[in-house]
Amino acid sequence: MSAEFRVVPFAGLPDYSEEERLQCSREFLRLMQGRRTIRDFSSKPVHRDIIKNAVRAAGLAPSGANKQPWHFAVVSNPEMKRKIRKAAEIEEEEFYAGKAGEAWLKDLAPLGTDPKKPFLEIAPYLIVVFQQNYDIDSSTGEKIKHYYIQESVGLACGFLITALHNAGLATLTHTPSPMGFLRELLGRPKHEKPVMIIVAGYPSDTATVPEEALNKKSLDVIVSWFD
Ligand SMILES: Cc1cc2nc3c(=O)[nH]c(=O)nc-3n(C[C@H](O)[C@H](O)[C@H](O)COP(=O)(O)O)c2cc1C
Repeated sequence: MSAEFRVVPFAGLPDYSEEERLQCSREFLRLMQGRRTIRDFSSKPVHRDIIKNAVRAAGLAPSGANKQPWHFAVVSNPEMKRKIRKAAEIEEEEFYAGKAGEAWLKDLAPLGTDPKKPFLEIAPYLIVVFQQNYDIDSSTGEKIKHYYIQESVGLACGFLITALHNAGLATLTHTPSPMGFLRELLGRPKHEKPVMIIVAGYPSDTATVPEEALNKKSLDVIVSWFD
């Protein structure tokens, strides 16, 4: 049996002139050109509402059949951050000691990453993103199917990083490998899988970025046009 299909009027988009639209596109491009993954954070506090609004923006991402298959665990508690750092460093020691394999470690070398993850304790916020492989109906206990889970969660993470960057915050996409410990530490249910930690805060005064990260493929390489 199909659910009822109802519609509401579309709220509309800003009525820009073409010049204004071009200007917006240029300004947004410039904004995004300034985004960099930061690995050296300051402990300067961040207003909680900035994080709240960024997570709200992430929750507006498109998703397969509008199932919104995500959960964001926002961690600022120092003790929990310490536990996450400790568990991540245990996994990362093994990863960098060889578990990653030669090719991966070679690719990581120009980024200068290593098993030490002090930012997990120093940065004011860790946003742990979980993908929900399915959901459970709270009244019937029945499983609710989710679709295009990875794609949807990837989009939500993109929205989240963009929203934080737009608010003038630095981010780091961190994926300790493996990261099952996050589910246990944060008490999330079995049908949720942690996919990344978005570290958010201000860069330290001496933060640097790897030159390698500035090396982006040109438009000609990443696009093909079929006019
Ligand atoms: C899915 C994903 C996982 C990542 N995992 C890590 C990580 O575990 N540690 C890290 O230092 N950087 C990580 N990064 C950051 C990338 O290294 C970084 O985005 C890349 O070098 C390009 O630099 P940029 O973000 O400054 O453009 C990850 C990025 C993505 C998208």
